[in-house]
Amino acid sequence: MQLLSLLSLSLGVLATSQFVQAETIHTKVAILGGGASGISAAMNLTLAGIDDFVLVEARDVLGGRAQDVKFGNDVRIELGCNWVQALGKNPINILAQKYDLKTVETDYSDIAYIDENGKHLNGTKEYQAFSDASDRMAEQALKRAKNNQVDISSRTALSLAGWFPKTPLESSIEYFGYDWESGEDPERASDIYGVLNDEANYNGKFGHDLDEDRMNIDQRGFKYIFLKEADRVFKKNDSRLKLSSTVKSVAYDKNGVTITTDKDTIIADYAISTFSVGVLQHRDVQWKPEMPDWKMEGIFGFHLTTYTKIFMNFPRQFWDDNEFTLYVNPTTRGLFSVWQNMNAKGYFPKGTKDNVFFVTVTQDYAHMVEAMTDDQVKEQLMTVLRKMYGDDIPEPTDFKFPRWHSDPLFRGSYSNWPIGEMDQHHENMKAPLHNRVFFAGEAMSKYYYGYLQGAWIAGEEAAIAVTQCIKKKCPRATYFPQITNAKMRGSTVHKKRALVV
Ligand SMILES: Cc1cc2nc3c(=O)[nH]c(=O)nc-3n(C[C@H](O)[C@H](O)[C@H](O)COP(=O)(O)OP(=O)(O)OC[C@H]3O[C@@H](n4cnc5c(N)ncnc54)[C@H](O)[C@@H]3O)c2cc1C
Ligand SMILES: *[C@@H]1O[C@H](CO)[C@@H](O)[C@H](O)[C@H]1NC(C)=O
Ligand SMILES: *[C@@H]1O[C@H](CO)[C@@H](O)[C@H](O)[C@H]1NC(C)=O
Ligand SMILES: *[C@@H]1O[C@H](CO)[C@@H](O)[C@H](O)[C@H]1NC(C)=O
Repeated sequence: MQLLSLLSLSLGVLATSQFVQAETIHTKVAILGGGASGISAAMNLTLAGIDDFVLVEARDVLGGRAQDVKFGNDVRIELGCNWVQALGKNPINILAQKYDLKTVETDYSDIAYIDENGKHLNGTKEYQAFSDASDRMAEQALKRAKNNQVDISSRTALSLAGWFPKTPLESSIEYFGYDWESGEDPERASDIYGVLNDEANYNGKFGHDLDEDRMNIDQRGFKYIFLKEADRVFKKNDSRLKLSSTVKSVAYDKNGVTITTDKDTIIADYAISTFSVGVLQHRDVQWKPEMPDWKMEGIFGFHLTTYTKIFMNFPRQFWDDNEFTLYVNPTTRGLFSVWQNMNAKGYFPKGTKDNVFFVTVTQDYAHMVEAMTDDQVKEQLMTVLRKMYGDDIPEPTDFKFPRWHSDPLFRGSYSNWPIGEMDQHHENMKAPLHNRVFFAGEAMSKYYYGYLQGAWIAGEEAAIAVTQCIKKKCPRATYFPQITNAKMRGSTVHKKRALVV
């Protein structure tokens, strides 16, 4: 500090403000990112008796992808995560219960179907057919996994399960049942890992047959449960909590880690990165040295989807009372198809003046709306709504959607396991660097990726590894320098196994 004051004196008064706050911080552990995963890591270290850490977060608030904003007259909407998905012993469900989070069960079959002429259709039969095919696909995927067969895309798996959408109604239902859940289309997604992820969440350690999801409608925001946990770790004005600090670079070697933020330099024995896999892919943070190729192959191969909710508030409700309305788009599969009604029974608090109807877009459609102005998107949505409900509908009084993919702090919404990524890729993606930098965040969870519980559990796992290292009992880190199993046609192995039909 003395040196700094001298420096600012010699540079004159103008420069002072830029220098006074620059600090070099020494700590045992630097947690990078203050979403669910970072908070969970901080909590686990604290419970293990380790208090010598800092948490660095670029935003001025914790919670990460758990983000809510005020909308309309008097409601708050969730721009990010919305559901407690899988109940039982899911750690997120346990937190929701602990803090009495107000949630409502989602009935995915409560749907109104409307075509481009405003005609209501009956999609019951098609919905059931898709849902039966999904069940068959899951059964078959579990068999494939058990037999150690190679992965296939979810599209291939759906076809093998006998699902062939031919009409716009069937395509819309498929989009709702598949893309709207996974965040991307069945062509890109892994069949086996997708089904294993479902099994782990809904039929595994948290409990069996947990097929219920509950949507947060608590006006304190979904992030409330994470902020309350953070309050148990950080006291008021805790100097270990570095908000509004953006990490610029992470330098690591076998002796430790140096993190440079836009404000400070942090010299740590260990770091836990919780950056989204999209942030890692987009090179938003500089790694010194560059991460090795075996690790980058795993990172680049994983997928961070974009799932964008576009909210509109109207002076009155003109849409159906169902929880979901499916616009049966006649030309473009699933585009502007999945609408949700916050006026549905049990949703927004009684007596609110707001009438919120929102549509979700994913993948390319999400990228498309991000590149448009708000007014352009609003105009397209109003065109769709007029097709559904006629010209006599009011203009929205409020309009909002987040741009997850362009945001350098996120680069997308949640991860999804793509066809082509193997188990070993995932292990490489998660593998620590020199046992100094550990990787958490939802994508690093092999079984719960994509969900809040994945973020929470991956944070704990990284904290446990760091705790062991601090106790000089670092877990043995393994990675695969080269991943091989390609069997080209004509290879002896292939010929031996080939059968004549
Ligand atoms: C639209 C949407 C819908 C979702 N729906 C659900 C759902 O219904 N149920 C469910 O379980 N999950 C859902 N998810 C997924 C869930 O939100 C995530 O799995 C979880 O929040 C991820 O937490 P995390 O800590 O791993 O990452 P993040 O929350 O992304 O935390 C990482 C933190 O790092 C910070 N950061 C990034 N770069 C820097 C930098 N350079 N310097 C400093 N800080 C930085 C970010 O600001 C962020 O706070 C949804 C996500 C989205 C976006
Ligand atoms: C850290 O998290 C793990 C679960 O992943 C848990 O078993 C362990 O008890 C936690 N540590 C402490 C000290 O609570
Ligand atoms: C829709 O069709 C199903 C059978 O496919 C039928 O049981 C149901 O009554 C129909 N619903 C309406 C509202 O007509
Ligand atoms: C925390 O900091 C704020 C602003 O710097 C100050 O007003 C407040 O008194 C501090 N609270 C505590 C408990 O130190």
